[in-house]
Amino acid sequence: MKAVLDILDLSTEELEDLIRTAEDIIANPATYAHACDGKKLATLFFEPSTRTRMSFEAAMYELGGHVISVSGEGASSAAKGESVADTARTVSNYVDIIAQRHPKEGSALVAAMHSTVPVINAGDGGHCHPTQTLADLLTIRREKGRFDHLNIGLCGDLKFGRTVHSLINALARYPGNRFYLISPPELKVPSYVKKAALKDRGIPYLQSVDMEEFMPELDILYMTRIQRERFSDAAAYERLKDSYILTPAKLETAKKDLAILHPLPRVNEISVAVDDDPRACYFKQVLYGKYMRMALILKLLKEAERDPGVARKADFSGPEFIRGSLRCTNPRCITGGEQELPQIFRRGADGVSRCVYCEAKAEPAE
Ligand code: NCD
Repeated sequence: MKAVLDILDLSTEELEDLIRTAEDIIANPATYAHACDGKKLATLFFEPSTRTRMSFEAAMYELGGHVISVSGEGASSAAKGESVADTARTVSNYVDIIAQRHPKEGSALVAAMHSTVPVINAGDGGHCHPTQTLADLLTIRREKGRFDHLNIGLCGDLKFGRTVHSLINALARYPGNRFYLISPPELKVPSYVKKAALKDRGIPYLQSVDMEEFMPELDILYMTRIQRERFSDAAAYERLKDSYILTPAKLETAKKDLAILHPLPRVNEISVAVDDDPRACYFKQVLYGKYMRMALILKLLKEAERDPGVARKADFSGPEFIRGSLRCTNPRCITGGEQELPQIFRRGADGVSRCVYCEAKAEPAE
């Protein structure tokens, strides 16, 4: 069973297919109005959301399907202590496809391992958010006409911003791209993302705390919010929250055809005065997200018809997988919240072992 947990679960050919379908839906919406007649989507959202949940739901309705929904941790048996695994196993009896958002990193993999219907990761803690990347990619394709030879600036909370991690992974697969990573020192892109997506493949990137330094170079500027809910230290959030505020004055040195993206919600990192600038794309990005989610639902349901009723096989039996002697140090990892979920680590070619769920570095168990 196909699950989309990470943007890398989709090949570049599959991304092209999704974009083609989304463009066709935009051009011929009536053709798709009954494409999912009789099908049901569950949206399981254990973390706040406006755009992602509503766009999944709008997407399913526009395809003629139905939606059943859990919104908020207090509203389901999760509040009674039910595990992600049991919830997924249960809900897959009721629906044809599941979109899940959960604060624990690696929670989407656990759901996919126990669901008999396709699972889409709608955000697992600070880890991944592949369907936001689908929205970002359609925006970039429509604005810039290509995914290659772009100077891509990412600014804000690059540590906890899951949309940033997924977008870097997606765009690092195309030739000629250059990344400009702009963040406070405390909120840099995690080393596991930088290493796998950029360093190991020799993809050029520059890091700075200064947005203005890179501004004239950029084709894309991807702004993000400082992720208050992921900070364990409230004082650190207060100190960092206004690190970047994009204003018309700061855009004076930018290219005339810069595309400004933001996954939203905006707190105050883009001044409202920028909204009227023709380079501001973040509200178009919201709409494109719905079309890409429609395309993804269609694709996964079609694949499930061909290969029904099988939970995602997570094969952790090879010699690179380690149990027992290591522990996951990430306090936000699903293994810290889920009963009897064994900690498992994969040793990479560089000798570093990482949690199979959240990708954090392992430490020796005491
Ligand atoms: C993002 C998310 O949830 O990670 N929002 C979204 O899905 N559009 C970004 C954010 O919350 O800052």
